[in-house]
Amino acid sequence: MWHMVWLLLLWPVATRSEIICGSLELRSIADFDQLRNCSVVVGHVHIANLQLPSNVSLTELSSELTEITDYLLIYRSTGLLTLETIFPKLRLIRGRQLLMNLYALIVYENRNLRELGLVQLQRIQDGHIRVESNPMLCFVHTVDWVYLAGNATKQHFYIKLNKSPNHCPVCGGLSADYSINYNYTRHCWNMHVAQVRFAPPQTEKCAKSCGRNGCDDKGNCCQHSCITGCSAQSCTLCGNYLRNGRCVDQCIASYELHKRHCISYKECRQLNLIPLTRGYRCMDHCPNNHKPVIDANGTLQCQLECKGTFHIKRMADLEQLQDCVTINGSLVIELVDIKEKIVSALEQAMGSIKEITGYLKVIHSAQLMSLTFLSNLDTIRGDQLIENKYALYVVNNYHMEHIWPANRQVAIQRGTIFFHLNPRLCFEKIQKLQSSLKSVRTISIADVSPNSNGERVICGDSVRTLNVKVEDVNSTAVRIVIDFMKSEDVEILIGYSYHYMEAPQRNVTKYDGRHGCGHDDWLMDVSPSKNRRHVISKLKPYTQYAYFVKTLTRTDYHMQVDAYSKILYFRTLPSKPSPVSQLHGSSDHSTQIMVYWWPPLRPNGIISKYIVNIELHNLTEAEASTKNYSTFKTCDTCELDCVCNDLEPYNSGPQPEDEHYYNKEQITYEDALPNLIYVSRRKLQTKKERFDKVKSFEDLLAGPSLVAYDNSTSTTTPAPPLVDNNSTLSANNQSTANQNETVSQEETDAAKQYEIFRKYIEDRMRQLQDTNKSDFIIQHAMPKCQDAHASVGYRLEQKCVVEEEPIGTSLPGSQHYFNATGLQASKYYRITVRACVDGVINGCSNPAEMILKTISEQVDQFMNGQ
Ligand SMILES: *[C@@H]1O[C@H](CO)[C@@H](O)[C@H](O)[C@H]1NC(C)=O
Ligand SMILES: *[C@@H]1O[C@H](CO)[C@@H](O)[C@H](O)[C@H]1NC(C)=O
Ligand SMILES: *[C@@H]1O[C@H](CO)[C@@H](O)[C@H](O)[C@H]1NC(C)=O
Ligand SMILES: *[C@@H]1O[C@H](CO)[C@@H](O)[C@H](O)[C@H]1NC(C)=O
Ligand SMILES: *[C@@H]1O[C@H](CO)[C@@H](O)[C@H](O)[C@H]1NC(C)=O
Ligand SMILES: *[C@@H]1O[C@H](CO)[C@@H](O)[C@H](O)[C@H]1NC(C)=O
Ligand SMILES: *[C@@H]1O[C@H](CO)[C@@H](O)[C@H](O)[C@H]1NC(C)=O
Ligand SMILES: *[C@@H]1O[C@H](CO)[C@@H](O)[C@H](O)[C@H]1NC(C)=O
Ligand SMILES: *[C@@H]1O[C@H](CO)[C@@H](O)[C@H](O)[C@H]1NC(C)=O
Ligand SMILES: *[C@@H]1O[C@H](CO)[C@@H](O)[C@H](O)[C@H]1NC(C)=O
Ligand SMILES: *[C@@H]1O[C@H](CO)[C@@H](O)[C@H](O)[C@H]1NC(C)=O
Repeated sequence: MWHMVWLLLLWPVATRSEIICGSLELRSIADFDQLRNCSVVVGHVHIANLQLPSNVSLTELSSELTEITDYLLIYRSTGLLTLETIFPKLRLIRGRQLLMNLYALIVYENRNLRELGLVQLQRIQDGHIRVESNPMLCFVHTVDWVYLAGNATKQHFYIKLNKSPNHCPVCGGLSADYSINYNYTRHCWNMHVAQVRFAPPQTEKCAKSCGRNGCDDKGNCCQHSCITGCSAQSCTLCGNYLRNGRCVDQCIASYELHKRHCISYKECRQLNLIPLTRGYRCMDHCPNNHKPVIDANGTLQCQLECKGTFHIKRMADLEQLQDCVTINGSLVIELVDIKEKIVSALEQAMGSIKEITGYLKVIHSAQLMSLTFLSNLDTIRGDQLIENKYALYVVNNYHMEHIWPANRQVAIQRGTIFFHLNPRLCFEKIQKLQSSLKSVRTISIADVSPNSNGERVICGDSVRTLNVKVEDVNSTAVRIVIDFMKSEDVEILIGYSYHYMEAPQRNVTKYDGRHGCGHDDWLMDVSPSKNRRHVISKLKPYTQYAYFVKTLTRTDYHMQVDAYSKILYFRTLPSKPSPVSQLHGSSDHSTQIMVYWWPPLRPNGIISKYIVNIELHNLTEAEASTKNYSTFKTCDTCELDCVCNDLEPYNSGPQPEDEHYYNKEQITYEDALPNLIYVSRRKLQTKKERFDKVKSFEDLLAGPSLVAYDNSTSTTTPAPPLVDNNSTLSANNQSTANQNETVSQEETDAAKQYEIFRKYIEDRMRQLQDTNKSDFIIQHAMPKCQDAHASVGYRLEQKCVVEEEPIGTSLPGSQHYFNATGLQASKYYRITVRACVDGVINGCSNPAEMILKTISEQVDQFMNGQ
């Protein structure tokens, strides 16, 4: 990593002084000093885990930066409201090297960011754009991303889980009369700043060969890579390279400087730099695996030299291996940064290696599935060995499933192999290396143990599904439970999201109900907990829902680890219905009342019957006159049902309140194996002289801090034979029998310890998923008392309810009228109707009620002509 600051004054390379900086990683306000005067960053800019206090002054952050050659990452920075304060002049992101080989602009999980505000940005020449999970972020959809992309057919933009555009202001804000200010441009970076876009060149009257690039007035084709204009003359900013004042796409017969210029050999030398033939770059120093030499003419040259022990820990270390064919020494691969997606870069950097004269050691590299990235390696000579013994040493690679491609052999001229703690690497696959060992006849069981390799193989099972089911349900809530996760999956788990929607039919697919705004009809609960239970509440009674569950994992760890359940269905239990609606009635005869109603708006079950009750109402004349009861009445004052949408509003992704979602705690996975190693070393301390195989675990201890794990060791009694004695011995009987090499006591102990440790972790992880069961209780209605006349005390004691007998006439659920006869003329009657559902104790609705007067006999005679 170089942080040199250049002052460059050279025509025609640069027409004004530019301060050129290397990659910058900004984590605190103090770091912004490095950025302030830079006009070009050759490399990337990270702003990650920055916590800005609210009183920070704008000048403290503001920079002169106009250009980033690689990519820009804004990640989990709090207090940052807009990037305009930091990058008011940024015009170009070239995307020469991309984050994860994909992204040129990533704005991810920034809690307070309100707008991007990259007001001068003209071009993202290469790489994808990802703006995601910024819960307050507006003005994302108002940016013309297609305009910014240098090659829209190749670049994608992913924009999701930001603030809904519906809840965001519009470009230019509202005008004085609160109407949208249509005069304002449609594309903007925030309410005040429109997105500046150069007019596209004309395409009419151009030669056909110009295509979409268009041409100038004279008919010369434009260059697409010129950002600010059409052709060489008018161009002040090139998306790719500038060569003698013209934009070019590649440096041909010239040398690349700062990933943005092409200059000649002579120009490079004039700058006191070294023109490097490899990659045709103009460099200020020889690359790592080149040594500087002064040639006969006295000029500085760089010469490839791949000598020594190469320790590859992260992407940046790979440069030293570029172009090496023979490694004159040894190679150690220890990919400590599990967040870095490095595998394809490994392939690219190590593909040329054919021979390693020393040893190959691969440890702690959870990203590696295999060693196939050494695609041309055919010999490990073993001139140097680890512990004078091992030429291929592979320990603690969590995901490693294969070693070499099926049809390839890598000869190991001298020394043997050591494989331990590779839980997904099948023992059989390691044994197959036997034939490539040139100096050793057999592999010792101490060096390659079936107990610490391949014990977790789920060969080929890369698509992961969650098994979920409904454990309990009442009328408004449901408890969902997920099968236990494996301990290693728990470690990267943040929580789960539960998605559910009403689904009258069982025909829902995951992408149903999506509409334009990026929202969909799925409601979502986010549970930032490893607990495998969750209660979804505020559901509608007697309603079928579709649901599915998804894990929330540390997305930056392994990209594909999120697991989903299938879409499943449940139905909530019935409950008391809402009152019948639209109750009305009339009296056409002095002895009759006809009552009509509509079913309840929310039946909450199947209406099995209606109960109608009609009773004489002793209404005083005074009451009758003030309340104006009549002989015909539509009930509009009775308990009217409202269609209350009392469901939680849609949550678009994690909300700022979900503190845990943003939890930055370390990945516990890293602690897990050192625990085991720790146990092994305790053994070692007592019997060091005899247990030399494990000595190399010392190396492993250099890593993360240890969490002591005492219990199992202190209780260890003299070890019984190996846990799985039978299979171990049988799997190895060829090698052990003729070698007179028995399984040593230490090894059986180690295997046993490993087993104990694994069980301990497994148990602990299970407990973690099963805590606080009482928080997930679904309340159920009390059962019916045996005794229909139970006393209050008895009811309380037995926790039961007495079933009421509703008074009135019972009608079938399909009938929505009632003809009451045998009444008295000219009397007020109080009429109540209740709807009742099946399967619910006291499941009748509150009564809908009205008061109606029968007509007098005279009116009856008049009306009915009798
Ligand atoms: C940036 O430029 C200013 C003004 O030219 C100067 O005072 C300051 O020291 C510079 N900062 C750095 C870090 O170079
Ligand atoms: C865009 O990318 C595609 C695919 O890589 C390529 O075929 C095309 O030529 C590119 N267009 C431009 C203008 O660079
Ligand atoms: C629109 O904006 C232009 C330039 O700002 C201004 O001249 C014009 O009067 C505006 N039109 C309306 C209808 O506001
Ligand atoms: C030294 O310079 C001469 C003339 O400039 C050139 O012909 C020769 O190739 C150079 N030698 C080396 C080793 O670069
Ligand atoms: C599900 O079935 C219902 C009724 O048959 C239909 O109206 C609806 O469109 C279907 N939905 C899908 C996604 O097929
Ligand atoms: C109505 O009045 C009659 C006579 O005064 C009485 O017998 C009856 O109980 C009253 N009914 C109600 C419901 O109050
Ligand atoms: C150790 O074991 C004892 C008894 O088996 C138990 O009570 C204690 O909680 C254990 N400690 C740890 C750290 O597991
Ligand atoms: C070992 O072998 C015996 C006899 O074949 C068998 O009963 C026992 O289950 C085996 N133990 C294990 C751990 O496989
Ligand atoms: C086998 O073990 C015995 C006793 O430990 C030892 O005397 C003998 O030399 C060993 N044989 C070989 C071939 O290592
Ligand atoms: C259903 O269970 C939930 C969770 O215990 C509770 O909050 C809710 O009140 C219950 N609903 C009914 C109708 O009892
Ligand atoms: C109500 O019942 C009476 C007696 O059964 C009958 O005469 C009358 O027609 C009925 N009214 C209606 C509207 O059905």
